Amino acid sequence: MGLKLNIQPGIMGVKPYVGGVSKIAGNANAIKLSSNENPLGPSPKALAAYQAEAAHMHRYPSENHAALRELIAHSYGLDEARILMGCGSDEIISFLCRAFAGVGDEVLYTEHGFGMYQISARLSGATPVSVPEKNRVTDVDTLLAAVNENTRLIFIANPNNPTGTMTPDAEIARLADGLPDGCLLVLDGAYAEFVYGFDGGAAFVETRDNVVMTRTFSKIFGLGGLRVGWGYGSAEVMAVLNRLKGPFNVSSPALAAAKAALEDVEYTEYCRAENEKWRGWLAAELGKIGIPSDPSFANFILARFSSADEAQAANAHLQDNGLIVRLVASYNLPQALRITIGDVVACRQVVAALTEFKARI
Ligand SMILES: Cc1ncc(COP(=O)(O)O)c(C=O)c1O
Repeated sequence: MGLKLNIQPGIMGVKPYVGGVSKIAGNANAIKLSSNENPLGPSPKALAAYQAEAAHMHRYPSENHAALRELIAHSYGLDEARILMGCGSDEIISFLCRAFAGVGDEVLYTEHGFGMYQISARLSGATPVSVPEKNRVTDVDTLLAAVNENTRLIFIANPNNPTGTMTPDAEIARLADGLPDGCLLVLDGAYAEFVYGFDGGAAFVETRDNVVMTRTFSKIFGLGGLRVGWGYGSAEVMAVLNRLKGPFNVSSPALAAAKAALEDVEYTEYCRAENEKWRGWLAAELGKIGIPSDPSFANFILARFSSADEAQAANAHLQDNGLIVRLVASYNLPQALRITIGDVVACRQVVAALTEFKARI
């Protein structure tokens, strides 16, 4: 009591991030479909690499993550010198805000955009500004109209979370080219690997100095628990971000697992194909029982109900059936539930439970 704390601007304005529910009391077998994790788990080769590296846990990890950066560069056709590894892509998002947005600056994100954008903006003292989407799709005209002389960063996830929708390349180009000096466009490609033939925004980074891309090993590679992500941008931007990185921000077993996961191309292809197959099936089956969703490009669908009450009742019914999905009212989508694409068993259970739910109301 009476302690005088010099709390920095923004910090107390943060509502801590709430992740997807992971347990149902009294049900040890609940299926978690609330955090867009890979239901098939990581590549067995990633698991083996993690276990092998664990024997060396008394040693500090690499400071520059050279081996993994080299592999990422090779796999995606990028310049390894401009790749920065982070403790999840969350850390890269936080570096971007700390580096480029402070008190008096604005950080734009889309209405239903990922929650960490506004949290990181606030933590750096900046003002997060939510910009409306159009029918759950990023709207470039509205974004450009919201840009002013204080705007420093614009975050867009592509595909977007929790909507699953995508912004076409031509629109991204129009946005990047319409920004004033001193404002960076961040393309968050957390779900890029689920889209066949999509580069996550890499080509925009190569052609425009004001574009930065973030990526993660948490989604298709199934390593959410290990916290490995990365960023890619111009030499000038990356020279700034590199200075924010702690020397040992990614652990050595995590680096080893990420490397093995990226090398296991066959497994990633299998995960992509399974996701596509069951996503299509789930969306079609729910559509038949009056639960529409936009075509999703990611590993989840945003199922829409007729009201917020109905979405909550559906959520409760799913939980009664051992299925945990994500309420997205905090993303300004109270009438919807975000459902991660599970394995075949999980998808069938979701459809069975929601069919029963719809028949009852
Ligand atoms: C759009 C988006 N960006 C970034 C992240 C953060 O991922 P990471 O685990 O790499 O911090 C997530 C995680 O759900 C996400 O949905």
